[in-house]
Amino acid sequence: MNYFISARIKLTAWYVFIIFLISSLLSGLYYFRTIQILDFQAYRIERQIRNPNFFPPNFPAPDLQFLQEEFESARGQLINQILLINLIILSLSALASFFLSGATLKPIQEALEEQKRFVADAAHELKTPITALKTSLEVNIMDKKISSSARKILQENLIDVNSLESLAKNLLSLASFDRHQVFQKSPISLLTVIDLALRHVSPLAKQKNIKIDKIIPKKPPQILGHQDSLVELFVVLLDNAIKYSPRSRTVKFLVSVSKKNIKIIVADHGIGIEPRHLPFIFDRFYRADQSRTSQNTPGYGLGLSVAKTIVSRHSGRITVKSTPGSGSTFTVILPQA
Ligand SMILES: Nc1ncnc2c1ncn2[C@@H]1O[C@H](COP(=O)(O)OP(=O)(O)O)[C@@H](O)[C@H]1O
Ligand SMILES: [Mg+2]
Repeated sequence: MNYFISARIKLTAWYVFIIFLISSLLSGLYYFRTIQILDFQAYRIERQIRNPNFFPPNFPAPDLQFLQEEFESARGQLINQILLINLIILSLSALASFFLSGATLKPIQEALEEQKRFVADAAHELKTPITALKTSLEVNIMDKKISSSARKILQENLIDVNSLESLAKNLLSLASFDRHQVFQKSPISLLTVIDLALRHVSPLAKQKNIKIDKIIPKKPPQILGHQDSLVELFVVLLDNAIKYSPRSRTVKFLVSVSKKNIKIIVADHGIGIEPRHLPFIFDRFYRADQSRTSQNTPGYGLGLSVAKTIVSRHSGRITVKSTPGSGSTFTVILPQA
């Protein structure tokens, strides 16, 4: 929505600028033409006055100063009028442009809204069958009667279904961020958020035998924020750290507190990210090095873009440092409550 307001203001500014150029050009032409005519008239009058036959003999020599004064006053009036007319033109055109740009952008805005609604609705509709699929897969995997090859297939299916589930969730999150400008924030305990996030990623960590080393201050601070979103933020970072690490590595989760800020670091010893990909990993649907990662690791490239939006909605910052082959470190800085 904000985007459209700024686009509307820009468009209005352009319209007004163009009208300003045209009207100043015409005003300049009008001014110089009128001054020319006045000059010519003044010259004619002066010539007539200077003509010795114009006045009767013995008539006192006329003072030509008044002619100069009249000319100057006419010029002053002309300038005032031109300025006033330009001011009126600019004010009216600013008003008209503002409405016109609004009307121009409205269909585009509506189409975009409709598209976002469609994505949100589609993601929402997908959630229910995905959840059902996931439950039945989980139940079947537990079934002792199935063969080990069938179990292996079901387990692979479960990984795909999990990634579909997170796709639907991320799409819904992005759609809801687009719609609502601000979160309903309240003071929440950072410890609760961290616990919920860790609980969420622990099955994956266990599966890959990855240990999550957490170093958290004894009295973790309160944070003014939206609990579900903050949990989602840490899930995205931890999930990536686990996903993009080989088996049996360690992931570090560090929280430190300064006077104003809370710093959260998620560091892994995984595959790392090449410098050329770093500027884009927070973009929607961007996955670094498709050939290397997407075959083994499921995902759609939405996690970090969700994470970045959540951080910015909490007036924070997220940065990344990474060395290919030796690991990545994501740092989130959030203001304290
Ligand atoms: N901890 C990490 N280690 C290595 N690469 C990462 C890490 N986190 C993110 N990436 C890279 O950034 C890309 C975007 O991440 P993300 O938005 O979470 O999407 P996804 O995990 O679904 O691919 C990933 O595809 C991956 O290439
Ligand atoms: Mg991810």
